[in-house]
Amino acid sequence: MKKIFFLLLTVTIIQFAQKKTFEQRADSVLALMNLEEKVGQLIQYSDGYATGGSTVGPKENMEELTRKGGVGSFFNVIGVKAIKKLQKVAVEESRLKIPLIFGLDVIHGYRAIFPVPLAEASSWNPSLVEKSARWQAIEAASAGLQWTFNPMVDIARDPRWGRIMEGSGEDPYLGSQMSAARVRGYQGKDLSANTNILACVKHYAAYGGAEGGRDYNTVDLSERNFRDYYLPPYKAAVDAGVGSLMASFNEIGGVPSSASKFLMTQILRNEWKSDAFVVSDWNSIGELIPHGVAKNLKQAAELGINATVDMDMQASAYYMHLAELVKEGKVNIKLVDDAVRRVLIAKFKLGLFDSPYKYLDEEREKKNVMSKDIVNVTKEVALETLVLLKNEKNVLPLKKDIKKLAVIGELANSNDDVLGGWAAQGRKEDGVSILEGIKNKIGMNTKINFVEGCKVLGEDKSGFEKAVEAVENADAAIVVIGENRSMTGEASSRASIDIPGVQEELAIQLIKTGKPVVIVLMNGRPLSFPNLQKNASAILETWFAGIQAGNAVADVLFGDFNPNGKLPVTFPRSVGQVPIYYNHKNTGRPHNPGDHYTSYYMDFDNTPLYPFGYGLSYTTFEYSAPVLSKTQIKKDESLKISFSVKNTGSVEGSEVAQLYIRDLVGSVTRPVKELKDFAKISLKPGELKNIEFTITPEKLKFYDINMNYIVEPGDFKVFVGTNSVDVKEARFSVVE
Ligand code: GLC
Repeated sequence: MKKIFFLLLTVTIIQFAQKKTFEQRADSVLALMNLEEKVGQLIQYSDGYATGGSTVGPKENMEELTRKGGVGSFFNVIGVKAIKKLQKVAVEESRLKIPLIFGLDVIHGYRAIFPVPLAEASSWNPSLVEKSARWQAIEAASAGLQWTFNPMVDIARDPRWGRIMEGSGEDPYLGSQMSAARVRGYQGKDLSANTNILACVKHYAAYGGAEGGRDYNTVDLSERNFRDYYLPPYKAAVDAGVGSLMASFNEIGGVPSSASKFLMTQILRNEWKSDAFVVSDWNSIGELIPHGVAKNLKQAAELGINATVDMDMQASAYYMHLAELVKEGKVNIKLVDDAVRRVLIAKFKLGLFDSPYKYLDEEREKKNVMSKDIVNVTKEVALETLVLLKNEKNVLPLKKDIKKLAVIGELANSNDDVLGGWAAQGRKEDGVSILEGIKNKIGMNTKINFVEGCKVLGEDKSGFEKAVEAVENADAAIVVIGENRSMTGEASSRASIDIPGVQEELAIQLIKTGKPVVIVLMNGRPLSFPNLQKNASAILETWFAGIQAGNAVADVLFGDFNPNGKLPVTFPRSVGQVPIYYNHKNTGRPHNPGDHYTSYYMDFDNTPLYPFGYGLSYTTFEYSAPVLSKTQIKKDESLKISFSVKNTGSVEGSEVAQLYIRDLVGSVTRPVKELKDFAKISLKPGELKNIEFTITPEKLKFYDINMNYIVEPGDFKVFVGTNSVDVKEARFSVVE
């Protein structure tokens, strides 16, 4: 025990000393800088300055701006060669030779594209997601980058919002696990290694709370709702040591994030004690003008720096006005120094001062970008993101010796859409379409007949007849429908969450042939398809599964992999139900079928199409009732929940056992369920495993009537199960 203590003490001293070193080294550079050079470190531009939003740009070109020390970072500069050219100017030709930091949106891969983040969250496997981020970092670092604008952790309960694809769904606990896993994966254990890159948790904060699911729209939350639901995943990233945050476009309750002292100073600096630097989103400081809180770019700059948004992405607000504001005494130079220090500390942590060319090895770039190894990892990850939603009459898995197979749908033949949105340097020629994956799997001995049937978009049904004929002449059919890759991501909100075009109508016609039909969904958001859901026998959710989508989906369709994904977000029956999420409040009149005066829609079944945490397997699992170590605990005590899960089917499979709690009575209303733990276990046929979760005081805390983050005495229910609805429960109490 003593040895461990002294080891921990030594590590802490080293870390403290190291942190001191980074700050001391940053301060030693800061002391040499003039005002223009300080402002320069707080300026970031996209390659070639790009346009889009920002109204003004530098008069110098990128090299001239770098040479004069007028810029701290570029993004969207691609390839070692191009990055090296600019870095050389910075560290060999500028006065103080301060290195640049180069960023890019590596959201789910640089060139080897992984499944979109919402798909990765469906794996409910934080170590797999960490591995994905690790490999993304190795590839991006090999391409010369030191910074990714990820993880995106915005809680999203509204599938109309296209950026739901970029996050980890509706739950703060699952979202926090994924957030921390990605920070660990990107940053590694030692940021100075040239395989690690700075992560950037975004979009701080609550960007996913946009009213109506309309991108960039107003967010208005109670502080309690904000802190209980939306804030935890950002805090998880900060606790995991994230080196930067990105301020979001939206306002919260009247204050745009890029002008929010509450977010940037009170929470991030004072409560969380974070020394991570904050970069604005694209021109989000400039957008304080249309938000109506700044009358011009100068006032926008003043609001941004006063809120401690350290770096101005693309708005030219700091470029044009920050030095002037300091000289006029409107901005305290200490604010500028603090911001510059945070940026310099990050560059020191990355080792850029000691070795500015450490990421810039063209041989390494050739070797690591799209390496065979990373391509294999994209498939390993994709397999665990696939969610089996329905499988009746044992349609799945299909037999490999099937003689004739019809494959239908424009998306089936797309090696582009599998990449999903925000696919950085991904190339469609790297993508394996679902049709290709099926051909790779069974093409040698099966007659595969592909018929498009219809497009993703549009009302043209002229292809239906040929598609019906193909299915009638086949032993089975795989019908791939959903959204194309541009229908989710930024500025991609939809007022409808139906399956676009006439795809659903085609699918139902094909089901009516009576042949075994497997519906494969390709989409970036929850979709509502109650009619198809009722008529289909087999439905597999594949999201946008990345460059190896086709091979991963084929493995599942033909039984070489038993699907084990679970939904990280609720699927509504209708957009009219939105917002609909599992961790909702009970209200004073919870829905009670048959009781008119309760909370429900008269024209729709009030349950979701598929609930949070839902996903099937080719086998079946049986849960025992949970047993508690105690049924009464004090506020500072923990208790254990034990239960068993048995594989009651005939094939090996993995299951995500989930733990939820309900606080029955609080000083404020509490959700009917809250996810507090989960475990992914693999079981052979007939195998039984015992699982034990611990409920700690931290898992019971919430913001009470006085906004204190505490455990309140009272009665609780605890639930264990395969999703947020099919659960077994027990009860316990907390006493003073
Ligand atoms: C975009 C996005 C943000 C991204 C940034 C840089 O507008 O909102 O997620 O990181 O600009 O590309």
